[in-house]
Amino acid sequence: MTGNRAVAYKSPGHVEVIDIDYPTFELKDGPGVNPANVGRKVPHGVILRTVSTNICGSDQHMVRGRTTAPADLVLGHEITGEVVETGPDVEFIKVGDIVSVPFNISCGRCRNCKERKTGICLNVNPDRPGSAYGYVDMGGWVGGQAEYVLVPYADWNLLKFPDRDQALAKIMDLTMLSDIFPTGFHGAVSANVGVGSTVYVAGAGPVGLAAAASAHLLGAAAVIVGDLNEERLAQARSFGCETVDLR
Ligand SMILES: NC(=O)c1ccc[n+]([C@@H]2O[C@H](COP(=O)([O-])OP(=O)(O)OC[C@H]3O[C@@H](n4cnc5c(N)ncnc54)[C@H](O)[C@@H]3O)[C@@H](O)[C@H]2O)c1
Ligand SMILES: [Zn+2]
Ligand SMILES: [Zn+2]
Repeated sequence: MTGNRAVAYKSPGHVEVIDIDYPTFELKDGPGVNPANVGRKVPHGVILRTVSTNICGSDQHMVRGRTTAPADLVLGHEITGEVVETGPDVEFIKVGDIVSVPFNISCGRCRNCKERKTGICLNVNPDRPGSAYGYVDMGGWVGGQAEYVLVPYADWNLLKFPDRDQALAKIMDLTMLSDIFPTGFHGAVSANVGVGSTVYVAGAGPVGLAAAASAHLLGAAAVIVGDLNEERLAQARSFGCETVDLR
């Protein structure tokens, strides 16, 4: 058994690296853990050594004090890691695999999961459909801005990279696969972007830029990005977008 350190929310505008327990295959009581989830057995889970994570724009809602996040809530829902332990019910994921962790925690077994609506899984958050790691009111799954993190329903949730060396060579880019990039991609798909589309993206933050890049992948003819931040607009121009400075 080894220790574990993690980035925790302390108070508005203040986070800190704290010592927390090394995970086991059970969801233990802790800051923000839903009482109905305490003691939940996770034999279908794996323990990851975190290789890389992102800070999400959505973490800012907690960090800036806009939510009811409790002190010592461990942050981090954008996780890329190496599997170091597998639970007894895990069949396909193996120790040593390098994996991306989709930020939506889902069971793969409920009606919504079977309809591929994993953002509103019925079995992971006792309060309402849908859950994420390290997020206020999302069931209490401990966040992954930590050295080690537990991932439930691992065979279903994890995206295994086929080649370890290739994955590690591009790990900073691949870290975008857990949330930021698919969020932008989902936006572009939901807006029916296709071959020849003209697209306007409002906001050149990480998600907006991912939506713009996705629009190109989907065949858009012209992608226009608006923001008030010139640095971010320059980033958009660097990969072929038109920009509008909204100031
Ligand atoms: N899966 C998800 O649901 C998911 C995932 C990631 C982020 N998010 C959310 O997406 C949002 C964007 O995330 P981000 O990390 O890119 O945030 P961000 O704050 O870094 O970027 C937002 C950008 O929008 C610009 N902006 C503000 N008002 C604007 C307007 N009226 N028109 C055009 N631009 C405007 C800002 O200047 C800023 O650059 C956040 O609210 C975040 O919580 C959701
Ligand atoms: Zn996020
Ligand atoms: Zn489900």
